[in-house]
Amino acid sequence: MNSSLPLSCPADCASVHATANDPDKRRWLIATGAAGGAAVLATAVPLVSTFAPSERARAAGGPVEVDLSDIPPGGAKTVEWRGKPVWVMRRTPEMLAALQGHDAELADPQSLKDQQPAYARNVARSIKPELFVAVGICTHLGCSPSSVPQGTANPSLPADWAGGFFCPCHGSTFDGAGRVFKNKPAPTNLEVPPHRYAGETRLLIGEDAA
Ligand code: FES
Repeated sequence: MNSSLPLSCPADCASVHATANDPDKRRWLIATGAAGGAAVLATAVPLVSTFAPSERARAAGGPVEVDLSDIPPGGAKTVEWRGKPVWVMRRTPEMLAALQGHDAELADPQSLKDQQPAYARNVARSIKPELFVAVGICTHLGCSPSSVPQGTANPSLPADWAGGFFCPCHGSTFDGAGRVFKNKPAPTNLEVPPHRYAGETRLLIGEDAA
């Protein structure tokens, strides 16, 4: 796991960053809600994972290739690209359906701000609706959000939570396409990096689609 991700946040997030790269510590952090008084999110799913050496070698600049064949529906993996964690998530039909119907609650439902390539400026914010690719860094002050499934009951989340991502530092919430909810400290949707598909099971992060 990369221990030098270019994250920055205020002092109260220091413990988050110190543990963000250690899955065991991170699970503990989420479970205890130690960051910024965040409440317990027992079902939060950490998206940080171990980076393969080949990915690390390419992280300094070039595109990173991702094998999609081992990502099950509802599953995700994290790779490193230019020193940043990038999530690759295979969304289920239910997760895609959950992207509808809450535009009024979002700060930028049409993704008008420049947080994604033009080919990802759509409801799913992706090339293939089922595959979501996003930089796993909160757009507020750089903490690492976690994936939180639909139906998770927690005071930090809306009662009708349809699934998405939660940042424990200051409580920003994002839907399953990384679109930020209104009245949260994060100012913009999560970043979608340039990417393209080089086959049914190969993704290249760092190269634009045609
Ligand atoms: S870093 Fe502040 S809400 Fe994510």
